[in-house]
Amino acid sequence: MATAMLSRRSFLKSSAASAAALAVPTLIPARVRGQQAPSRKVTLAALGVGGRGTAVMHGFMQHADAQFLAVCDPFQSRREAAKATLDTHYGRNAVTAYADYREVLARPDIDAVIICTQDHWHVPLAIAAARAGKDMYVEKPLGVSLEWAKVLREELRRGARVFQYGTQQRSDWKFRTACELARNQVVGKLQRIEAWCASLGGPGGSTAPLAAPPDLNYDLWLGPAPVSPYTADRCTANGTYHIYDYALGFIAGWGAHPLDIAQWGLGSDDTSPVAYAGTGTLPTAGLWDTVASWDIHCRYANGVDLHFMSADVAQPIVTPYRPWCDHGTTFFGDQGWVSVDRGRLCASAPGLLKARLGPDAIRLKASPGQDRDFLDCVLSREPTVNPFESAMRSDTISHLADVVVRSGRPLRWDPLQEAVVGDDAAARRLDRPMRAPYAV
Ligand SMILES: NC(=O)c1ccc[n+]([C@@H]2O[C@H](COP(=O)([O-])OP(=O)(O)OC[C@H]3O[C@@H](n4cnc5c(N)ncnc54)[C@H](O)[C@@H]3O)[C@@H](O)[C@H]2O)c1
Repeated sequence: MATAMLSRRSFLKSSAASAAALAVPTLIPARVRGQQAPSRKVTLAALGVGGRGTAVMHGFMQHADAQFLAVCDPFQSRREAAKATLDTHYGRNAVTAYADYREVLARPDIDAVIICTQDHWHVPLAIAAARAGKDMYVEKPLGVSLEWAKVLREELRRGARVFQYGTQQRSDWKFRTACELARNQVVGKLQRIEAWCASLGGPGGSTAPLAAPPDLNYDLWLGPAPVSPYTADRCTANGTYHIYDYALGFIAGWGAHPLDIAQWGLGSDDTSPVAYAGTGTLPTAGLWDTVASWDIHCRYANGVDLHFMSADVAQPIVTPYRPWCDHGTTFFGDQGWVSVDRGRLCASAPGLLKARLGPDAIRLKASPGQDRDFLDCVLSREPTVNPFESAMRSDTISHLADVVVRSGRPLRWDPLQEAVVGDDAAARRLDRPMRAPYAV
């Protein structure tokens, strides 16, 4: 089938008029709205300044109405490097470096935290932050337990906290355009969606026990996870992504991105598919023990199918109809398809990408950037482009796909009760004990 692609330049030209209509609304500071007012500058703390945390920190540093006051990481060298960067940016000793997040959350002068730790810490830190009255930007995925995430939902509601999920694709015009075309049935009535992403690839990680380096407070790094001997690869980014005690692997860590877009384009931020079946593989040696590849078919209550795949499974399925990319989301309607990845937007026919949406069309939030949108919402108290519910419902798909692979059987899901139907063993996989003294 012919593939039509849209460049950034032609899109900007054709959509200039609609962009004007979608301009970001004027900010209304929280104090004007009678709610809890943050300081005039949004004051921030970075929790976790490894590779991603440092990159996200640099993004927030660009905004004149935000200011970091604290950084926190159990690696002394990382927190000191982040402090040095911020002190250079803001002025001498503007920022304090902490090993322990509890000291950060106890500071009343911090409005919001940016959580970029390994996945198993995301929700426990977010719960603690919500209880301390902080708003939060939380890296994807939500983490290792859907039951923990339900507690976070309650805390966010109770405190009316602002939450932004770190799935930045919603702030990219290509993804928003694809989702608006799907939502407005420019491809016809939606029949099915394909969502795929990079996978682990193969086994890896040394299992030889070592003494933890003096630079690292290993007990704090582990936090609520079980105690395991320190090894050379455990506290690296790969260990962060591919060890089951700390993450579900790329089925959630990378999967969060295309699934988030599948959910947005379908208008399903408040639900998840009801049926899941498929297969996958797990490494048989080394330290990595998360799902390595997967091929999962899901069905929504409205009959739309979602085929969620690792890149190795997706390649022979995707390449016959569009240029290959190791991640992406395609919406198939009864009159064509539209597909999107970080590099391109393409469709079954050029006319689909040039379609003009009418005044009554469904419009999705045009975010000025995941970090900028978060700051705007901290000030306005409006929902972010990726509020908690979007995170919870897409993360649910990753968790249930993981359970299907690990249990070797299909499952059914009740999205209203947020419970597995008729399979207690599968349901138990959605919760994990926390190592004392940690608790939700
Ligand atoms: N949105 C994206 O595109 C994107 C890209 C890469 C990574 N990520 C996500 O970012 C997160 C971090 O990934 P990374 O590559 O930076 O991993 P990393 O291992 O380099 O960094 C994680 C950091 O968190 C620190 N940490 C651990 N426990 C902590 C605690 N209690 N308090 C404060 N800091 C703590 C670690 O010491 C480490 O420095 C992961 O969840 C990953 O999925 C998102």
